[in-house]
Amino acid sequence: MKLRVVGILGILAVGSSVSLSLGAKPKAGDAAKGKETFEQCSVCHNVDTDERKMGPSLKGLFKREKLASGKKVTEENVKATINAGGNGMPSYQDMLSDEEKDNVIAYLKTL
Ligand code: HEC
Repeated sequence: MKLRVVGILGILAVGSSVSLSLGAKPKAGDAAKGKETFEQCSVCHNVDTDERKMGPSLKGLFKREKLASGKKVTEENVKATINAGGNGMPSYQDMLSDEEKDNVIAYLKTL
């Protein structure tokens, strides 16, 4: 009997943590931290002039209609670009954590 109670509690605990993580809204990134992370991007990207470095300026990125790829400027598409890299841009898929990417995106939105 005791075992069964423990078993049921275990299932409840697992169940509620699953629903918690599913129910949690994606956290908004932290732009201040993102700015620090962006230091490694600023080698190739200007943010305060429109001038191109290795890569295009990211000034006002989220105020633009489209990315160079023709996709709409959304958090999702920008993140996909950061993950994939290509054409001279390194892939950040494994170089940055998801949190760092969210922070960088929050920073890019302030530009
Ligand atoms: C070694 C240079 C380099 C570094 C470092 C770099 N990028 Fe890039 N990035 C590029 C180049 C080159 C392109 C253009 C790629 C293309 O034309 O397809 C680009 C494109 C982009 C774009 C798409 C811009 C558009 O208008 O479509 C975004 C967003 C971006 N980079 C963000 C970042 C972020 C964020 C970082 C840091 C985590 C970063 N980049 C680091 C070179 C770099």
